[in-house]
Amino acid sequence: MWDTLTQPSDILLCSGPKTGTTWLKALSFAILTRGKFDASTSPLLTTLPHDCIPFLENHVEKIKENRSDLPLLATHLPYSCLPKSIIASNCKIVYIYRNIKDVLVSYYHFVREIAKLSVEDAPFEGAFDDFCQGISYSRPYWDHILEYWKASQEMPERFLFLKYEDLKNDASSYVKRLAEFIGRPFSVEEEKAGVLENIINLCSFNTLSNLEVSKSGSYQADENASLEHRLFFRKAEDGDWENYFTDAMKEKIDKLVDEKMSGTGLVLK
Ligand code: A3P
Repeated sequence: MWDTLTQPSDILLCSGPKTGTTWLKALSFAILTRGKFDASTSPLLTTLPHDCIPFLENHVEKIKENRSDLPLLATHLPYSCLPKSIIASNCKIVYIYRNIKDVLVSYYHFVREIAKLSVEDAPFEGAFDDFCQGISYSRPYWDHILEYWKASQEMPERFLFLKYEDLKNDASSYVKRLAEFIGRPFSVEEEKAGVLENIINLCSFNTLSNLEVSKSGSYQADENASLEHRLFFRKAEDGDWENYFTDAMKEKIDKLVDEKMSGTGLVLK
């Protein structure tokens, strides 16, 4: 069924949950629509990025009925679960990933809030144990990263790997790289006119999280689940994991990740 939804010219934004998907959607949308809208007229000011770019696995009907001119689709699916047509096509894939410990903390709060559980009822230790056992929405996170990473090694021209922390620390370089990869590089004139900077500011956590649309309303994540918009914006801080992990937890997860990444060429700090 998904096979018929995608076209070879599509750009697929792939990620594990809580790794910066909302941000990547906002940036990609703003980059590709910048001829039509500027930072003061962008639909992103009034629409959640998830309502601008659908998820392949959750919004089949929406994509079928309302395929926009925008060649952007997103997915949390592991690479091995992508439709064969996508794998066989030449479509480009942007993959965003993030410090595993921060992903776990972000995921913990997200799931806890959806389930409406207090920290006392759902302590972090339980989430930590599940995570280490690989119990997760879309595969153990290390497998999610590695599957895409391995595919990117075989077909480097089709993939752009973006690290959440790099985007935060050097937004201008990485947003430019994203724009080039998705086929809409910034011209020198645009840069001089501040277009790149405006897009970075528009899509920043500070701007997006303070919009009215991000503070109220719900997003239809799939047929059964409706999620409050505010759940997609928490702290966006690097290293928040330090407030949750004991030394023993840090040691355990570092060892686990080192083992999983060993020999792959991918370093996750
Ligand atoms: P925290 O829970 O650490 O705050 P996803 O979009 O994949 O669901 O990931 C959500 C995480 O990205 C949350 O992290 C959220 O706060 C952060 N986030 C949301 N919008 C962001 C933005 N514009 N820039 C940076 N981080 C953002």
